[in-house]
Amino acid sequence: MRTRFTEIFGVEHPIVQGGMMWVGRAELVAAVAEAGALGFITALTQPTPEDLVREIARTRELTDKPFGVNLTILPSIDPPPYAEYRQAVIDSGIEIVETAGANPVDHLPHFKDAGIKVIHKCTSVRHAVKAERIGVDAVSIDGFECAGHPGEDDVAGLVLIPAATRVLDIPVIASGGIADARGLVAALALGADAVNMGTRFMCTVESPVAQSVKAQIVANTERDTELIFRTLRNTARVAANAVSEEVVEIESRGAEFSDIAHLVAGARGRKVFEDGDLDAGIWSTGQSQGLIHDIPTVAELVDRMVTEAESIITDRLSGFVGAGAGVRA
Ligand SMILES: Cc1cc2nc3c(=O)[nH]c(=O)nc-3n(C[C@H](O)[C@H](O)[C@H](O)COP(=O)(O)O)c2cc1C
Repeated sequence: MRTRFTEIFGVEHPIVQGGMMWVGRAELVAAVAEAGALGFITALTQPTPEDLVREIARTRELTDKPFGVNLTILPSIDPPPYAEYRQAVIDSGIEIVETAGANPVDHLPHFKDAGIKVIHKCTSVRHAVKAERIGVDAVSIDGFECAGHPGEDDVAGLVLIPAATRVLDIPVIASGGIADARGLVAALALGADAVNMGTRFMCTVESPVAQSVKAQIVANTERDTELIFRTLRNTARVAANAVSEEVVEIESRGAEFSDIAHLVAGARGRKVFEDGDLDAGIWSTGQSQGLIHDIPTVAELVDRMVTEAESIITDRLSGFVGAGAGVRA
């Protein structure tokens, strides 16, 4: 499959593994690169910019194919040293960056001066238009289905992606709710040039999260997520569990962040992934978990998606048009 995305970013398949806190580490990102897709190391998973430099080097030991770094800029009481992380990315010779969380305007000139291609991930058409205007190379647009931060507009991908591709000239990467070949073909039909997946890549052999987390994703349905931080206008889609239910309950009583801070601490979420204790904290997962029924290797997943997508296009879809058209299952 060739799209503007595969051409511009120099990867084989129009499939992206977006940045994932605690998950976007060398093993997963290298496996994604080796499978011919584009993976992103998550900068802030590394405690310091120096650790990020080491993680990039570790990834390069595992693959010589292209991969990128995600820099997520989120509201924080005690912000990480973004400029230092950014410099670590530039000094490491990274060629592709995924920004997310906030307008990347402060960082973009630095990346562009270093010849880095930037994909900005956002959750609305208006933010995508703004990102195009300031000069990013592509946008990744997260629909309401996504894991992590879907924004506050609650527009799902089926409307959001074609609304975006209608007004944008740069390539669009459809994100949120995609876990298989059907999602890939649908995204291309909606005008996207590639897909981005988080939850699906988190549930692979090479993903560095506890086996119990992967098993829970397989067991969960599309209904087993919870939206927290709605009342703070910083919505996050996370797994439904004892902690996220408690957060929503406290929020419904008109809480402030300080009332829930102890429940949502990053260190507790990290414990879920590292120790496999599913109720240790909140952990991100998307509605696409309802489409996930196995734990394949990354290579199996990517090969399967590409092969099945080609067959959906050439067999199922082409069968609906032309002389030989007939009703198909
Ligand atoms: C465990 C987890 C952690 C995530 N952390 C981040 C993050 O730090 N920065 C970011 O930009 N996106 C983050 N995301 C969002 C993904 O990159 C991606 O946009 C999203 O998962 C797409 O929706 P899907 O899960 O339905 O595929 C995270 C997703 C998951 C599942």
